Amino acid sequence: MAQAQRHPFLDGLSKYRGAPPTVVVIFGASGDLCARKLIPAIYNLGMDGLLPADFFLVGYGRKPIPDEEFRTDAAAAIKEFSRRSLDADVWARLAPNTSYVSGGYDDKAAFDRLAAHLAEIEQRTGRPVQPLFYISTPPNVFAPILLNLGASGLAAKYLGTPHHAKVVIEKPFGKDLDSALALNTTIRSVFKEHQVYRIDHYLGKETVQDLLVQRFANSIFEPLWNRNFIDSVQITVAEEVGVGTRGGYYEQSGCLRDMIQNHTMQLLALTAMEPPGALDAEAIRDEKVKVLKAIQPLTIGPAGEVVRAQYAAGMMAGKPVPGYLEEEGIARQSATETYAAMRLSINNWRWQGVPFYLRSGKRMARRVSEIAINFRRPPGTLFAGETARFDLAANTLSFQIQPDEGLSLILNTKIPGLETRTQPVKMSFRYAATFGSNTAEAYERLVLDAMIGDGTLFIRGDEAEASWKLCTPLLDYWRSVGRQGMDSYAAGSWGPPGSDALLASRGHHWRQP
Ligand SMILES: NC(=O)c1ccc[n+]([C@@H]2O[C@H](COP(=O)([O-])OP(=O)(O)OC[C@H]3O[C@@H](n4cnc5c(N)ncnc54)[C@H](OP(=O)(O)O)[C@@H]3O)[C@@H](O)[C@H]2O)c1
Repeated sequence: MAQAQRHPFLDGLSKYRGAPPTVVVIFGASGDLCARKLIPAIYNLGMDGLLPADFFLVGYGRKPIPDEEFRTDAAAAIKEFSRRSLDADVWARLAPNTSYVSGGYDDKAAFDRLAAHLAEIEQRTGRPVQPLFYISTPPNVFAPILLNLGASGLAAKYLGTPHHAKVVIEKPFGKDLDSALALNTTIRSVFKEHQVYRIDHYLGKETVQDLLVQRFANSIFEPLWNRNFIDSVQITVAEEVGVGTRGGYYEQSGCLRDMIQNHTMQLLALTAMEPPGALDAEAIRDEKVKVLKAIQPLTIGPAGEVVRAQYAAGMMAGKPVPGYLEEEGIARQSATETYAAMRLSINNWRWQGVPFYLRSGKRMARRVSEIAINFRRPPGTLFAGETARFDLAANTLSFQIQPDEGLSLILNTKIPGLETRTQPVKMSFRYAATFGSNTAEAYERLVLDAMIGDGTLFIRGDEAEASWKLCTPLLDYWRSVGRQGMDSYAAGSWGPPGSDALLASRGHHWRQP
């Protein structure tokens, strides 16, 4: 009994959020994402008592894998990748409900076998079990999987009840506007929009959700959240890693597709959207779509508002690293950008005239994702003139999304002493320091939200389309000009000179997070 109290999911319903009996079916279950993120996420939900009593995990893939081997692999994945170590009691209850079905992604008969397997699970349980399909394969098989979920009747299971079948779709959601529209058409031929959960794992991060709380649960920020008080906004998603062994994939993708179109645009939408009427999925996503649609088309071309670049050889953590064009699997004349920066204008009452600067890159000086809100400078009349005594900074509110999640505010203060001298100081809040460092990972939150049918932190079809509509003309232009205009930056730096010039032309400069 003591164990049941430690892990309430073992004997009762999901502890806090009422997840119904569920079977999670992971397509691509032999893959990297499943081992590194999905299985550890499910395990940690179990450990926190957030899984329903009747919870089942089914892996699906082309290679035949016996149930026992899948369980062994899953336990190994938890040991290696989970934020908490493998608890024998929790695993002893999850393991018997873990199984594997093998078959092709375009093989209707295999999906019929999957349907029969799910029916068996329900028979054993003696009650309806909601299916949650998680598509964790490369995107070339998204469509066949979706179509077979339709053809086998699985997509329509329990439609009309709250426990209807749900589908989670991994990124990338298309590679341009046309492919995103085509994918949405396929999805809508099989599923209703409210069954669909397009994932962007950035939205599962604490600080990203905290952005909504900071904006709408504190009365001090929202009155200032507009063109009258905000001078500019900077959104940075910087990685230290290069392309590593994923050169083949990256050559087809590039920074705009891999980072800007999805994560960075989502951060922008949450920062800039109007207050929603309610904190529910549709109200929030309506506002995100509205603001994405209000972004002005980019000025493209040599004097445009966008910079792209590739990393050149440089030093990372004191070690030399090769440039992008020397990496394995990269064409020597590659025109794929590893860095992109842009200036966006939002054409609405709140934001007109406020530049939104976005940048993302590989092999940058530090791994950091942040949103920085730069307020207008105070009128300099009182503390001006003798600049050596008065070091005045614009107030900046920054949300650090990773690593070391938190937020900070730069304020000007008086340096203690008989003279009046000022200096900017930083007031910081760090999640780890206040709440402990072992917080749930983004995928835990997102898997649970999909199970309980909360789409707030997922991307709606029209959001994906609005974002692609903005990025696709730029991709088309870059394809048409090849390497022309491609800038470069040393690995380990903060990006190319052109990116600094983009901001300097408006009297701004990038923050060094
Ligand atoms: N890995 C990450 O950290 C990460 C992060 C964010 C998003 N994602 C996205 O999540 C999805 C899965 O990522 P992943 O890294 O797990 O992918 P992966 O390891 O390359 O592939 C997952 C599984 O899909 C099947 N598969 C692989 N290539 C295939 C092909 N050409 N045709 C049909 N099936 C194929 C394989 O399973 P079988 O051979 O057993 O069928 C493989 O184990 C991708 O869409 C990726 O973009 C991944």
